[in-house]
Amino acid sequence: MKMEISVAKKSDLKGINEIYNHYISKTAYTFDIDQRTISEKNKWFDQFKNSKTSVCLVGYQNKDLVGFVCSTKFREKEAYNKSLETSVYVSDKFKGRGYGQQLMAELIARLSSTNIKNLYALITYPNKPSINLHRALKYKKVGVLNDVGYKFNKYWSVHIYELKL
Ligand SMILES: CC(C)(COP(=O)(O)OP(=O)(O)OC[C@H]1O[C@@H](n2cnc3c(N)ncnc32)[C@H](O)[C@@H]1OP(=O)(O)O)[C@@H](O)C(=O)NCCC(=O)NCCS
Repeated sequence: MKMEISVAKKSDLKGINEIYNHYISKTAYTFDIDQRTISEKNKWFDQFKNSKTSVCLVGYQNKDLVGFVCSTKFREKEAYNKSLETSVYVSDKFKGRGYGQQLMAELIARLSSTNIKNLYALITYPNKPSINLHRALKYKKVGVLNDVGYKFNKYWSVHIYELKL
């Protein structure tokens, strides 16, 4: 079934937060540990205001939020401003049907017409679906941060994937 992709609006934040909070509590795919409140999510959403490169897209099937994808500053320091971090989250009930790939492909297409040169995905290891998704989109593994995260009483490594635009 077709998914409609559009730029995220404030009214999408509740659904975005529900998907994200699920992955906070159940997985180490995000290194956030505490559930995010709507007011925190509102502040987070400000980064997308008036920006051509920090972008948040949502995908819907009818009224159901399938998932969201975002590009955000890679790091704050100015010289990083040709690089972005990308992240994608698909609701559990829609996983494995090609939607994550469609969301990412749309984001990459939009960023290709900007001055951005590098996209980075920081993938907690193991996460086969995410690694396969990023490989399918031609991201290449360029590094590993060994045991950089600590969540659920254990250490997690992060694999860095890069896409040159
Ligand atoms: C990672 C995620 C976004 C992928 O989205 P999705 O809609 O489930 O994935 P798609 O159906 O678009 O599949 C994309 C690719 O990943 C592969 N894939 C998807 N699920 C997979 C699984 N469970 N195991 C192995 N490969 C898988 C697909 O085969 C496809 O590769 P291909 O084109 O070479 O066949 C989704 O699983 C998710 O939201 N996971 C939790 C959050 C997360 O890990 N986000 C990424 C943080 S870096």
